[in-house]
Amino acid sequence: MKGDDFCMKILISGTPGTGKTSVSELLAEKLGYRLVRINDFAEERGLVEGVDKVRGSMIIDEVRLEAEVGKLSGDIVVEGHLAHLCKGDVSVVLRTRPDVLEVRLSLRKWSKEKIHENVEAEILDVILQEAVEVNENVVEVDTTGKSPEDVCGILSDMIRKKIYDDFRPGKVSWVSYLEDSVS
Ligand SMILES: Nc1ncnc2c1ncn2[C@@H]1O[C@H](COP(=O)(O)OP(=O)(O)OP(=O)(O)O)[C@@H](O)[C@H]1O
Ligand SMILES: [Mg+2]
Repeated sequence: MKGDDFCMKILISGTPGTGKTSVSELLAEKLGYRLVRINDFAEERGLVEGVDKVRGSMIIDEVRLEAEVGKLSGDIVVEGHLAHLCKGDVSVVLRTRPDVLEVRLSLRKWSKEKIHENVEAEILDVILQEAVEVNENVVEVDTTGKSPEDVCGILSDMIRKKIYDDFRPGKVSWVSYLEDSVS
């Protein structure tokens, strides 16, 4: 049996609609890792504090989430928009070009405000900025124009070879979309 030192905890986060769930399912399957979906995990462990009625999302106790995820051992992919707040061996932030993300989110029954709020968060690197405050080994992967299978291939290669430098924070910039978003 492998010692815990050799186990990998891969965190997959990103703005809603960037493909966390799609990519994580493929990646966990490809690497043979256990998949932990944060929303399900939070419900199972009683970490849900309530419902954000404005956003229509669960309010999860982030401190307890981090502690509970920290207790998990083995090779794991942890997926969800709070995954980057947990400790892991590699923290992946999926990125999607704002205009493409907007089209993707428009397919959901979300208000214009909610779509706008999330597209703006993507432009402003909100998740990435939070991620670098928690983990050292943070990478960002631009999923624009790539299928979930393509992104899974990039991640599994990166993780197997332990070569992260091509994906360090700062490679992706959506700043030129800022004016469109505020006008
Ligand atoms: N690389 C991609 N190219 C095109 N479409 C994609 C890609 N990744 C995901 N999608 C599609 O975008 C939608 C959102 O994907 P997914 O549910 O995986 O995102 P998510 O980040 O998990 O979102 P949420 O935060 O709401 O859980 C789905 O309809 C999915 O099929
Ligand atoms: Mg999801």
